[in-house]
Amino acid sequence: MKRRHFLSTSAAAGVVGSVSHARNGPKDLRRAGFMGIAKAGKDLPRTAKLKVAGDELRILQFTDIHFFCDRERFGEKADLQTVDDMKRMIENTSPHLLAITGDLWSDNPRGQGQKFFEYALEKITSLGKPWLFNWGNHDRLDDYATAQVTLTEAKNSLYRGGHDGGNYRISINGDDDRQLMELLCLNTTTQGVQAGQERWLTMQKPAASPVLCFLHIPLLQYDTVWQKKLAKGIFKEPVCTYGEDGSAIAKLKRFGDVKACFCGHDHVNDYSGNWDGIEMVYGRATGHAGYGANKLKKGGKLITAKLNDPKKNCTWKTVFADGSDWSPE
Ligand SMILES: [Fe+2]
Repeated sequence: MKRRHFLSTSAAAGVVGSVSHARNGPKDLRRAGFMGIAKAGKDLPRTAKLKVAGDELRILQFTDIHFFCDRERFGEKADLQTVDDMKRMIENTSPHLLAITGDLWSDNPRGQGQKFFEYALEKITSLGKPWLFNWGNHDRLDDYATAQVTLTEAKNSLYRGGHDGGNYRISINGDDDRQLMELLCLNTTTQGVQAGQERWLTMQKPAASPVLCFLHIPLLQYDTVWQKKLAKGIFKEPVCTYGEDGSAIAKLKRFGDVKACFCGHDHVNDYSGNWDGIEMVYGRATGHAGYGANKLKKGGKLITAKLNDPKKNCTWKTVFADGSDWSPE
C-alpha cells in the first residue's frame, strides 16, 4: 500500500493498575487534541512499576505493527509473520520489557477497530513479557474509554494512560525497590505532541531519575538532526511530525534528565541524532502488513540501559528475527 493512501485511510516484573465512561468518536477526540479523554478510576494506580534484577535494563521496541492492514491483499499471513518475528526477537534478546510504540492495529473501518484491538491485545499478551503501549494515529476504535480500561487490566500491561489522555509514567526499580530510571509514555494522538500533552508534562512532578521517553509521532527535532547532519542511519522518507511545533523538547527538559526519545510512525526511517542533549531515535518498523517492507527490512529496536551507571546512559541497535542486528556506521 502506498503511504499516501495508507495515511488517508486512515512481572517477572512487578507490574503494579483506569476507568472512564466517556464515549467519544475519533472526530471528537481529534478536536479535543488527544485520544481518550477519560476520567480515572479511583481504585487503580496512575503509575506502573517494573522491578529489574541486575544492573542492565533491556527494552525491545516494536513499532507500527499494523495488524489488519491490507488484509485484502495479505490475508492473515503478514500478521502471523509479524507475531512469529516478535517471538524470535524476544528469544534472541531476552528483554525485561516490550515497548509497543503505536499503530498496533490499522484504523476503524466500518467499526471494526474493536475487533482489531482485541486481536492485537491477544497477540501482545501471548508474548509473555511486560509491555508498555503508546497510542498511534492509526489505533482507532469507537470506545476509547473502555479500551483504556482493557489496556490497563491486560496481562503484563504497564499501560496507565487512562487517567491522563494516554500519557503516563513507569518507574524502573532495582532489587531493593529503589527507583533507578523512569519511562515517560506520551500520546502523540493524530497530530504529534500538542498543547494538551505539553500541559500534562508541565503539571508533572519532575523526574528524580534519568528518563527514557516513548512516543509514536516524532518530534520536530527528529527532522532537525537529520537536516543538520547530526544524525546517523537510514532516511528514506520525510519526517512526518504533523502539527508539532518544536516546543515539546523544552517541556521534556523541564520534566527531567531525558536521555532519549524512541518513536515510530515513519516506517522507512531508522536513524538517531542528538539535539540539545536528548537522543532522537527512530524505532525499526515491525509489522509486515504496514508499508515499507520493500524498502527496509522489518525488525525491532533493542535498547539497553546500564542501571549501575549513575548517568544511566543507554545504547540501542536494530534487531531482526533471524538473530542479526544493525547499527549505523
Ligand atoms: Fe503512525
